[in-house]
Amino acid sequence: MSRVLNGIVAVCPDLGIGNHGNLPWHPVRLSNEFKHFRTMTATSSVTGKQNVVIMGRKTWFSIPEKNRPLNNRINIVLSRQCKAPPAGVHHLVSDFSSALRLVDTELADQADQVWVIGGSSLYKEMMESPGPRRLFVTRILKQFDCDTFLPEINPDKYRLLPKFPGVPEELQEENGIQYRFEVYESKEQ
Ligand SMILES: NC(=O)c1ccc[n+]([C@@H]2O[C@H](COP(=O)([O-])OP(=O)(O)OC[C@H]3O[C@@H](n4cnc5c(N)ncnc54)[C@H](OP(=O)(O)O)[C@@H]3O)[C@@H](O)[C@H]2O)c1
Repeated sequence: MSRVLNGIVAVCPDLGIGNHGNLPWHPVRLSNEFKHFRTMTATSSVTGKQNVVIMGRKTWFSIPEKNRPLNNRINIVLSRQCKAPPAGVHHLVSDFSSALRLVDTELADQADQVWVIGGSSLYKEMMESPGPRRLFVTRILKQFDCDTFLPEINPDKYRLLPKFPGVPEELQEENGIQYRFEVYESKEQ
C-alpha cells in the first residue's frame, strides 16, 4: 500500500479556516485543540524517524516566530516566489509533487508520516491526490469572520469514520467555544 497522506484542519461552520493571516478565532486560544494538532502531527510511530509537515508560505508565517519550525517535525514549505528558505524552514519546494518527491527520496530514511497543515490550496491538492488519505477535521461549532476556506469534503470520495484511535469522540469546549474532532478517510485506498 502506498503512503497515507494526512491533512489536519480546524474549520468554522462555513468551512472558514483563516482570517487576515490568522486563525478565525484569534486572539482566543484553543489550547487543547492545538495540543491535538501537535500530538497528531508530531507523534511518529517509528523510532528514529520524524513526521513531516507540509505547508504553504502564508501558513508558515502565521505560526508565531518562537514556534517555528514546528518542533520534532520536518518542516517543508511551498512557495513559487521564495528563492531561499525563510529562516527556520527545513526544506523549501516550489510545488506539491516536489514536496512528496522529497519525502520519498532525500528524506525517505528520516520521514515517517506526512501531514499537510494548510492552507487552502494545499488542502485542495492533498484532498484530490491519488491514493489513501486521511483528513483530521476539528469542527468549530461557532462562526467567526473568515477570508480563507477549506474546499468541500466530497462525500463521494471521503467517508466519516465512526471513531479513530487517539481522537476524542466527545464534544469539546474551551473559552466558551464548542468543537468536535472528526476523521475522514478516502474511499480510494
Ligand atoms: N484553521 C486551520 O486549521 C488552518 C491551517 C492552516 C492555515 N490556516 C490559516 O490559513 C491562512 C493561510 O492559508 P492560505 O490558504 O491563505 O495560504 P497558504 O496556502 O498557507 O500559503 C499560500 C502561499 O503558499 C505558496 N503555495 C501554495 N500552494 C502552492 C503550490 N501548489 N505550489 C507552490 N507554492 C504554493 C504560495 O507562496 P508564494 O506566494 O510565496 O509563491 C502561496 O501564495 C492563515 O489565515 C492561517 O492562519 C488555518
